[in-house]
Amino acid sequence: MKKTAIVYGSTTGTTESVARMIAGKMGVLDADIYDVGRLKAGQLDNYDFLVLGTSTWGCGELQDDWYDGLQFFKSMPMEGKVVALFGCGDCESYSDTFCDAMGLIYQELKQSGCHFVGAVPVADYQYVSSQAVVDGRFVGLAIDEMNESEKTDTRIDAWIACFKEAGL
Ligand SMILES: Cc1cc2nc3c(=O)[nH]c(=O)nc-3n(C[C@H](O)[C@H](O)[C@H](O)COP(=O)(O)O)c2cc1C
Repeated sequence: MKKTAIVYGSTTGTTESVARMIAGKMGVLDADIYDVGRLKAGQLDNYDFLVLGTSTWGCGELQDDWYDGLQFFKSMPMEGKVVALFGCGDCESYSDTFCDAMGLIYQELKQSGCHFVGAVPVADYQYVSSQAVVDGRFVGLAIDEMNESEKTDTRIDAWIACFKEAGL
């Protein structure tokens, strides 16, 4: 497996716990899991594969720590890195902005030279609108622990299976 880091931004702990579930299933060690709000310069430079997670707050906005987090990623060497995104949201109360923050990170980093993997078909989701949908697919894994927590495990498994097939 490529040297992998998982980075999350989480206000009430949901995205952190999903990050840890993903880590457990991918075999990523605790030492390679980072809170985006506590990153230090150079800390991610030696990783090949970055799994980045955010929740969505406000009305389709980034999780707070990701505002500085985006600057961190924009100022580090991203050329050649593989990036997979995941996002936590609420498709019932925020159906118009479901997991938007994942789309915001995608838009901000797509010119950085990294290569995105892990787009997910929308068929399994009920929502009205999402900035995280590009060309008919979520740019990463959308998770809804508020309304569809029973689907989280299977969704993560299917997502990770794609990485393994791609040799990541
Ligand atoms: C005030 C507020 C605003 C929210 N806005 C959105 C939103 O625009 N889109 C969405 O999908 N989820 C939204 N959510 C749901 C959160 O993203 C969801 O609860 C998430 O699991 C929180 O993750 P965290 O604890 O890791 O920050 C909102 C929740 C709250 C309380």
